[in-house]
Amino acid sequence: MKVLLAENAGFCFGVKLAVDEAIKTQNKYNKKIYTLGPLIHNSDVVNYLEENNIYAIDITDVDTLNEGDVILIRSHGVSKKVFDYLTDKGLIVINATCPFVTNIQKKVNKFSNEGYKIVILGDENHPEVIGINGWCNDSAIITKDGSFNEKLSGKVCVVSQTTEKEENWDKTINNLSINTYDDLKSFNTICAATEESQKSVYELSKKVDFMVVVGGKHSSNTTKLYEIAKKNCENTIHIENAKEISKDILKDKDIKTIGVTAGASTPDWIIKEVINIMEGF
Ligand code: F3S
Repeated sequence: MKVLLAENAGFCFGVKLAVDEAIKTQNKYNKKIYTLGPLIHNSDVVNYLEENNIYAIDITDVDTLNEGDVILIRSHGVSKKVFDYLTDKGLIVINATCPFVTNIQKKVNKFSNEGYKIVILGDENHPEVIGINGWCNDSAIITKDGSFNEKLSGKVCVVSQTTEKEENWDKTINNLSINTYDDLKSFNTICAATEESQKSVYELSKKVDFMVVVGGKHSSNTTKLYEIAKKNCENTIHIENAKEISKDILKDKDIKTIGVTAGASTPDWIIKEVINIMEGF
């Protein structure tokens, strides 16, 4: 049985940056460090961070922190309001927002200040989208698949959640183009890392008999990789780590090649474990 790894699998630049920053910050302050929400959607990495005295905390628990405590903003970023709230409380705030997300926040803030209606393609419940919306006073129209309930006009600025699918972006632009505007600014802010990993899983899943997508069950980019792979390869599974694999998953199937890919929050060590197990079958 041949196991093939997708060209772009695992930690993206922004996630790697946030994890490295957390470890660096812990070493610098040498005390308990907090992250606002789990740093990434991967329980193995969360455990690894806890072993290094780095703990996730919810916004509702920030009140229990003391002046001088250190809190790190994860790669998804936060709204301006949350940022101000943390600094006003006297916390040491380390901003590990992915620079690509910061770029979206800046655009949204700038164009909203210039009177543009902001449109975000993305999941309204995802922290990244909630954060971005917070840079235009929570006034954005959020579309999850490019469809709109209302007709837009005037000045409009549209951006995307970094992990969106290109087909949703195309649909958003097509639907917006039906109307006429004083000005329509569109910024395809889908992250290149996302696009590359989606392209490589698309290619790989066409050639293999079985696909394994590794990543957190709550990770939006891993779920999208799974959806793309599943379209090309019926035998696609989504697992969080190597412990979820048993030989049974290959039972009664004529499998000669297995493809492996992983979401942006999956560390190398988990990908290697999965590959080793699959190669052992
Ligand atoms: Fe940043 Fe792209 Fe990763 S936006 S967090 S590098 S998926």
